[in-house]
Amino acid sequence: MDRLVVTGGQRLEGCVTAAGAKNAVLPVLAATLLGAGECVISNLPQVRDVATMLTLLGLLGVSVKRETGRVIVDATTVRSVEAPYDLVKVMRASILVLGPLLARFGEALVSLPGGCAIGQRPVDLHVDGLRKLGATVSLQHGRIRAHAARLEGQRIVFRVPTVTGTENVLMAACLANGTTVLDNAACEPEITDLADFLMKRGARIHGAGSRRVVIEGVPSLRGAEHEAIPDRVETGTYLFAGAMTGGRVEVNRCRPGHMNAVLSTLRNCGVEVSEAACSITVKAPRRLRALDIHTLPYPGFPTDLQAPVMALLCLADGTSVITESVFEGRFLHIPELWRMGAAITVDGHRAIVKGSDRISGAPVMASDLRAGAGLVLAGLGASGDTRISRIYHVERGYEHIEEKLRSLGAVIRREHVPS
Ligand code: UD1
Repeated sequence: MDRLVVTGGQRLEGCVTAAGAKNAVLPVLAATLLGAGECVISNLPQVRDVATMLTLLGLLGVSVKRETGRVIVDATTVRSVEAPYDLVKVMRASILVLGPLLARFGEALVSLPGGCAIGQRPVDLHVDGLRKLGATVSLQHGRIRAHAARLEGQRIVFRVPTVTGTENVLMAACLANGTTVLDNAACEPEITDLADFLMKRGARIHGAGSRRVVIEGVPSLRGAEHEAIPDRVETGTYLFAGAMTGGRVEVNRCRPGHMNAVLSTLRNCGVEVSEAACSITVKAPRRLRALDIHTLPYPGFPTDLQAPVMALLCLADGTSVITESVFEGRFLHIPELWRMGAAITVDGHRAIVKGSDRISGAPVMASDLRAGAGLVLAGLGASGDTRISRIYHVERGYEHIEEKLRSLGAVIRREHVPS
């Protein structure tokens, strides 16, 4: 039960390297289940969710060889089609193995993800999509059981664009008989990355990254090598950290083209942003301007950066309105920010943030991954010490966050709390 202690008030300056995208690597690892043959996945972030996915693959019988920054995975020898509750409860994204196992082996069992800190996060669209492809899906003893002798291509229209739902059905459709059309599909860069990997394996996919994805089923997939895209959420987090401390921060090995909504937000706050082919630099004035933000599916402003941007706006000049349009209930960081003296009122899915030139360090608790990142940023901008407990949430998605922040001049340390 470690916690992070952030001593705020330092201006951040320097350069950090973006890690591989957790949300791209998780579906790519799940997609290794779709066929026999060696897959080499590089730019692997050292984060807990990736370790959990590798543990899950190992339990299913997949051969997993970890090397520095990459992993060699071979799903020739799968011996189980069940994702147990112990793993699903620590990582919802375990649901990503449902589609691949079903498509390759005709059966899959995945425990139903339980209570999640971020409002309601159902998986009905994953299940409906697989049913449309001909699977029989039932809930038995807390587990989703899906089976089908052979999946059949179909047109599926998602009620709302769902990232992992699109990924699950996309992976299953690769081995279905005939053509599948996904309409109102999510178009996040992580979906395009997954499709790129699947195509290297021999899948036939058109239109990934747009609202309509067409998949022509093939009988089997082969091994392939793939380098995951950089993490746009991590990139944005360091850019916000630089901006809110009046600093100058460069993030390299990132993809500026995936960051348009974030970069225009920064520019509208008064930050100088320069983009190169694989790097972004922000240079911020002492005080930023308030502005209104709506989280939206890609290419809109990402919900995963809502808590970090809220921390930034707590210190901006003026009043900002943040509308959370993707997940209801994704405001659990607000009561913690109140403890730090932030002036925020909540009106349904809107948060009204009255910026101030000062918030103060306090003991706070991370309720989920991105809320935790928001609290770390708030700590950087606060006076005095902020002690953030339950940082295991942050470790699910941020690689070496203390080292990276320290390299930028932050004063941050880890404290071990005996249980
Ligand atoms: C993924 C990301 C997460 C990010 C989110 C939105 C991964 C591993 N996680 O989560 O970091 O915050 O996208 O960008 O990539 N919905 C349903 N039924 C479903 C599925 C989703 O109603 O079956 C709703 C959700 O409640 C939510 C919306 O669809 O309101 C979008 O959620 P979704 O895109 O599915 O999020 P995840 O894929 O779980």
